Amino acid sequence: MTTNLALYRLLVFNLLEINLRNVLVFHCWSRPDAYPLAVMMSESHIYSQYIELQENAEGLANIHKDYLDSESDVPRMAVFLDLGCPLADFITNKSSRARLYNRRYHWLLFDQMGNLSNLAELFVRANISLDADVTFIEQRQEEDEGELFVLHDVYNKGCHLGGVLNITIDQSVQCNGSSCWVRDHLSDLHERTRLQQRMDLTNITLRMAALVSVLPLTSKEDILMGFLNSEQDAHLDSFSRMGHRLILHMQEMLHFNLSYIWVGEWSIQDAYGGAIGLLGNESVELCSTPFTPSWDRMHYVHPMAELAEFRAVCMFRTPHNAGIKATVFLEPFQPSVWLAFGAVLMLAGCLLWLIFRLEQHGMQRCLEFMPSLLSSCLISLGAACIQGSHLLPKSTGGRLAFIAVMLTSFLMYNYYTSIVVSTLLGSPVRSNIKTVQQLADSSLDVGVDNVPFTKAYLTSSPRPDIRSLYRQKVENKRDPSTVWYEPEEGVIKVRDQPGFVYISEASFMYHYVEKHYLPREISDLNEILLRYEGAVYHMIHLNSSYRELISQLEIRFVECGLISKQRRFFTKSRLQTYTNSFVIQVGMEYAAPLFLSLLVAYFMALLILLLELAWKRTERQTLTLGSNLLPHEQ
Ligand SMILES: *[C@@H]1O[C@H](CO)[C@@H](O)[C@H](O)[C@H]1NC(C)=O
Ligand SMILES: *[C@@H]1O[C@H](CO)[C@@H](O)[C@H](O)[C@H]1NC(C)=O
Ligand SMILES: *[C@@H]1O[C@H](CO)[C@@H](O)[C@H](O)[C@H]1NC(C)=O
Ligand SMILES: *[C@@H]1O[C@H](CO)[C@@H](O)[C@H](O)[C@H]1NC(C)=O
Ligand SMILES: *[C@@H]1O[C@H](CO)[C@@H](O)[C@H](O)[C@H]1NC(C)=O
Ligand SMILES: *[C@@H]1O[C@H](CO)[C@@H](O)[C@H](O)[C@H]1NC(C)=O
Repeated sequence: MTTNLALYRLLVFNLLEINLRNVLVFHCWSRPDAYPLAVMMSESHIYSQYIELQENAEGLANIHKDYLDSESDVPRMAVFLDLGCPLADFITNKSSRARLYNRRYHWLLFDQMGNLSNLAELFVRANISLDADVTFIEQRQEEDEGELFVLHDVYNKGCHLGGVLNITIDQSVQCNGSSCWVRDHLSDLHERTRLQQRMDLTNITLRMAALVSVLPLTSKEDILMGFLNSEQDAHLDSFSRMGHRLILHMQEMLHFNLSYIWVGEWSIQDAYGGAIGLLGNESVELCSTPFTPSWDRMHYVHPMAELAEFRAVCMFRTPHNAGIKATVFLEPFQPSVWLAFGAVLMLAGCLLWLIFRLEQHGMQRCLEFMPSLLSSCLISLGAACIQGSHLLPKSTGGRLAFIAVMLTSFLMYNYYTSIVVSTLLGSPVRSNIKTVQQLADSSLDVGVDNVPFTKAYLTSSPRPDIRSLYRQKVENKRDPSTVWYEPEEGVIKVRDQPGFVYISEASFMYHYVEKHYLPREISDLNEILLRYEGAVYHMIHLNSSYRELISQLEIRFVECGLISKQRRFFTKSRLQTYTNSFVIQVGMEYAAPLFLSLLVAYFMALLILLLELAWKRTERQTLTLGSNLLPHEQ
């Protein structure tokens, strides 16, 4: 066989066309024959390795580990294989088992004979994927102007899913020893990218893990299908149904057939079991439900479009008995102001008393009775509480003093009431429990949704605050099984029992909140994030040959708004509240301390009354004693 300079030129031409500078050559030329190729490659700055296919297969046993490692993240690489060589079928067979016909490797298969039936025989059952990049080079003898090569595109939509080998003619390239040029495009392959050419998945049956957790999986398939497709009770398994909708849209565009594998769990451990397990071990190509990405999962699956927000929250109404809160009524003024005000009132009381005394003695005013110092203080306190007095000074100076006291109290009183009213109306009163750790340390009762992902997070999270919450609120209960509530039951309990905390997925709870709550009850709700707010993504296996195609399609869904439409229908991300709904909220709950002090004051008054009675009694006794003694002395 003569050195095939035209073929060498074609290889260099082909690699430079797609800018690939790393090639592995399986050949059975003699070394001097292969030498010009090495020269051409290095002239074009292409790194090339050569492996001679000798007669024995032992030397090639580890070929895939050594040169074509499908695991490591090597950059894209070209592989040239001469199908005329004796061990070529060995290489193709091994590559198929290692699934190397994928987007990572640019395969160039050369057959001098151009024997397509030989090619078909080698590849008909091989693991060639949808994203394969395999070019079959057929040499045609045309001596006039160098050699003519015909290139074919080889792929399979998925051999284990019902796909058949597709060999499509692409173009003819003419080469001589020093240059190459495309002579003809023999089909319309060059008009679009490979992926766009392969968008049609007719006759392929993709397997999909369909997640339904609210119905028993033993139900008839019709019932399960009906549930997935229906629009009723959109909050049940909303993520899965939303994802399923998108997959149906995908099916419309790609025309594949779907086979359903019903599962009831997202995962058993983080990345194993359940739907994610099926996806991870490639038992299915698609999964209806999206997942939150986690470190362990990312070793197997690749996130595509973000479908929805995932927020697990602890929700509760502000407990009213969270400490007797007198501060609302004391808050308007600083303690120093209160003290100064009290002092001014006392002073005013003393001054009034002085005035009354002066009036009685200096002006010979005839009062029925002279008010004591205590009564004058009472009069000034009455002024502070905007109460008039029946006792008024008669002198001009005294009246002016009285007016001054009244004016001061009038100003104070108005400041006070307006501040109290504005704080009560200003903002809804929120609980001061803001973090999971505070919740764990509080005395509030906790209930948890028994949906697996919340339960699993709570029981197995490494975060110290979550562990502490679980220990104090679940394990330390007398009967730990009583903390698990159905969502509807839990949400109603939150409404009826302020201070009861319920933990679940937010959009799920919002559905029931809107169903059962009054607006003012909604504005009374407190939320604490249980886990960092994250998004859920549709996942596909890391090595799936449909990864590129389906990812691009999902991006198109995002761009055309299909995903946000479905998201708005299936999930709720916020609650509707009315800004003025908490105006009604000013209640008597903070008046308790006032009533308590009133009660204390009554007791004090009673005590003082008793003391006074006792005092009077002893006084009368001494008086009668004295009058009894008098006659004896006379
Ligand atoms: C690969 O080789 C094995 C035996 O070594 C054979 O059973 C199998 O059919 C071959 N596969 C292909 C695609 O040629
Ligand atoms: C296709 O790949 C699978 C998994 O890697 C392997 O088990 C199977 O043998 C391969 N099939 C062929 C025909 O090589
Ligand atoms: C093409 O290959 C097949 C199978 O390897 C063989 O039977 C046939 O004779 C070959 N045809 C030519 C023209 O070489
Ligand atoms: C083979 O693939 C080409 C596009 O690459 C397509 O036009 C053609 O219909 C496919 N043939 C078969 C039999 O599927
Ligand atoms: C190859 O073809 C080009 C263009 O037709 C021509 O210029 C060049 O001389 C040819 N080289 C050889 C070695 O035939
Ligand atoms: C799709 O697959 C199901 C079973 O998986 C089969 O019953 C049905 O006929 C298939 N439909 C088409 C159009 O191939």
